[in-house]
Amino acid sequence: MDKKVLYNPQGVDSLEEKLIGGNPSGLLNFNKSRYEWAGKLYKSMRDCFWTPESVNTTREKLNYLKLSDDEKFSYDRVFAQLSFLDSLIADSLADNLNGYITNKVVNACIIEQSAQEVLHSKSYAVLLADTVENSNEVFELYKSDLTLNAKNSEVHKMFAELTDGEVTREKIFYALVANQLLEGIFFQTGFATIYYLGDRMVGSADMVKEIHKDELHHLKLFENIIKEFIKENDDLAWFMIRAKVNAMFDKAYELESSWMHYILGHAFSKQITDSTVAYFIKKRQQAIGMYDEHNDKYGFGEKTILVNALNQREMANETRTNFFEGKVSNYSKQELNFDDADDEVINPEVGTTWRLKQPSYQEAIREKSTVIDVEDRSGDCIGCQ
Ligand SMILES: [Fe+2]
Ligand SMILES: [Fe+2]
Repeated sequence: MDKKVLYNPQGVDSLEEKLIGGNPSGLLNFNKSRYEWAGKLYKSMRDCFWTPESVNTTREKLNYLKLSDDEKFSYDRVFAQLSFLDSLIADSLADNLNGYITNKVVNACIIEQSAQEVLHSKSYAVLLADTVENSNEVFELYKSDLTLNAKNSEVHKMFAELTDGEVTREKIFYALVANQLLEGIFFQTGFATIYYLGDRMVGSADMVKEIHKDELHHLKLFENIIKEFIKENDDLAWFMIRAKVNAMFDKAYELESSWMHYILGHAFSKQITDSTVAYFIKKRQQAIGMYDEHNDKYGFGEKTILVNALNQREMANETRTNFFEGKVSNYSKQELNFDDADDEVINPEVGTTWRLKQPSYQEAIREKSTVIDVEDRSGDCIGCQ
């Protein structure tokens, strides 16, 4: 497949603009869109605009100094990993995938997402400059931390496949799934770690909550794109595609469970971290119709304290309080149905405060004693050695 042309007076009516392989005129008309959800999503993304400088990070250097060595180890690697993911995805969307998407309003959402990913990179720079002695040492950890480098390389491989040789519809679908995995799985460890430290690294948690809110939009965007793609491409050999997508989910589980254990192994049992990743793998599979209950190999369904912390945050994104400006902002995000929000959240009023309940040691031990049937796919972890 070739990239779309940017102007074609003989192009189709905007209501006929399919996701891929379409023939768009090149004109963006928000008033006449094939996908109503795309216009709403674009508006919601814009309504949530924020800047890194609006988050109060002035006390983070002092807070960071009080962390234990294990916690500093985690903190540094979280931002080393997140900054890689945002750097990768911003250019991957703009340079590669967007060229093959032939619906102009969906293009608009992707372009907005790409800009938000760049904003996230900026936020890491602002935050780290206020927190650690030398932010470059964090950004460049991939050069010395082989575990980080290995994970980055595997994630990059998923994204490089699209333009490795001829671009096909199947490869575009795999790229869509890779985006869903990045937004919905590969960010989880970073978010969970910062929420775990949230009582002590308040500015960092505030920054991550803003980023998390954006990533939920991106996740919703890609899950909608995937569902439309499936509807519009029913002639493809889906049994083959499902096999490959299953392998991608396997890889994502392997990468993230290993990484979460590496980062949070000092604070949570492996059962908890593995189950947390497995829980979100199942959610993501269900969201795009790829969950197979007869082939449930991860011991899905355990709602750990980390799952609760992440779901709690997703609920809280409905309303936010910006303490720095001392105002409460309601976003139009409630127009969308973010089904990641969980019914069993402990504190549904969390939207009125930025603080998250930090799991106690006793809670972690209680979770640890729960028998969970999770296949250990992560191999040796440096944190265990
Ligand atoms: Fe991002
Ligand atoms: Fe994102």
